[in-house]
Formats: sequence, structure tokens, C-alpha cells
Amino acid sequence: MNIAELNELIKKRRAIFPKTYIKDKEIAQDIIEQVLENANYAPTHRLTEPWRFRVLREGALQRLADFLVADYKKNTPPAEQTDFKIKKMSENPLRSGCVIVLIMKRHADLLPEWEEIAAVSMAVQNMWLTCTAYDIGSYWSSPSAITERSTDFLQLADDERCLGLFYMGYHNTPDIPAQRTPVGEKTVWLND
Ligand SMILES: Cc1cc2nc3c(=O)[nH]c(=O)nc-3n(C[C@H](O)[C@H](O)[C@H](O)COP(=O)(O)O)c2cc1C
Repeated sequence: MNIAELNELIKKRRAIFPKTYIKDKEIAQDIIEQVLENANYAPTHRLTEPWRFRVLREGALQRLADFLVADYKKNTPPAEQTDFKIKKMSENPLRSGCVIVLIMKRHADLLPEWEEIAAVSMAVQNMWLTCTAYDIGSYWSSPSAITERSTDFLQLADDERCLGLFYMGYHNTPDIPAQRTPVGEKTVWLND
């Protein structure tokens, strides 16, 4: 890959949501494995490699949908609940080729939590760029149901924390330009 291709790939990466995924179009096992392989090369301070993944497919996607709907009904005041949200929650996992649960395994004796959240985030960026290169839509979803209340559902160990869900699916969203303000507005150059 040359630098122009790398620049283009980074700029092309978008959050692509399940509503545009092509339902029932499977993602091959070896592609999912490559996405995870690339995740595994993220930087990691003190080599703790804190990323852990659960790949949900088929019946596991139905179980995820059931969990999200049940959590919503339990934790949202009845007057605020909408059929639209319930429909979305029950359909989104099933529209996906797979959903990868993003888990951080803590090494509290070695480094602060933020460094391990950062390492997992870098692994997710590797996954996201890899999906972009395969023309697979993907996005990081972080509902509180999954980041705050999923310990039992995911059977997390005491030293594990779930940071969200990574939805993946072939899609028919046209290329969308990124919405970003210029990096120059966020940068200070110091020469002395
Ligand atoms: C840590 C993290 C959590 C995110 N959680 C959500 C989410 O819960 N729901 C959502 O719609 N998008 C989520 N996103 C995706 C952002 O909404 C998306 O990246 C943003 O809109 C910019 O769009 P782009 O990625 O296509 O440039 C998350 C992104 C990150 C980095």
C-alpha cells in the first residue's frame, strides 16, 4: 500500500449503521479472523494486550437483541419508551453479519485503566479500517445496557469491562464525506 492509499482509507472510514446492511449477506469466517488479527497488532503499553473479543453470529445475535430490548424496557420509564426504538434494537443485531463484543481485560497492577482503554480503542480502529478496506460497514456502539449492565449477560470476569459492540455488515451506503473541522484549528506548532 502506498501513502496515498493509506490516506484515502483513513478518510474513507465511516460509521455505517445496520439499517443499510444487506441482511443475510454473510461475512466469511476468514475475513472476520483477519479483522481480529489486525486488531491484535494495536499498540499496547507493557504488552498487556488488553483486548478481548466475543464474536456473535446467528442465534447469538438473537440473544443480543433480546437482551437489548429487555434492558430498554426495564431501564426506560414507560412513558419514554417508543416502538421505534424497540424495533431498532431488535432488528439491528439481526441485520448484521456479526457483532463483535469489545472487552478490556484489566492489568491493574501494571498500568492505569485509561491506557488499556486507549489500547482497546486502537485495536478497534484497526478493525474499523480493515472493514473499510473490505467494503464492510461497521460501527462502534456503546449503549449503557452493554457498557454498564451487561456483566451477567456477557458473563464478564471481575477484571473485564465491556466497552461496546462492533457491528459489521455488507451494506449499500454511498461514500459519505467525513464531518470534521480542520486539524489546524486543533494544533499548536511550537518551534522554540
Ligand atoms: C468510543 C465510541 C463510541 C461510539 N458509540 C456510538 C454509539 O453508541 N452510537 C452511535 O451511533 N455511534 C457511536 N460511535 C460512532 C460515532 O457516532 C461516529 O464515529 C461519529 O458519528 C463520526 O462519524 P464517522 O466515524 O463516520 O466519521 C462511537 C464512536 C466511538 C469512538
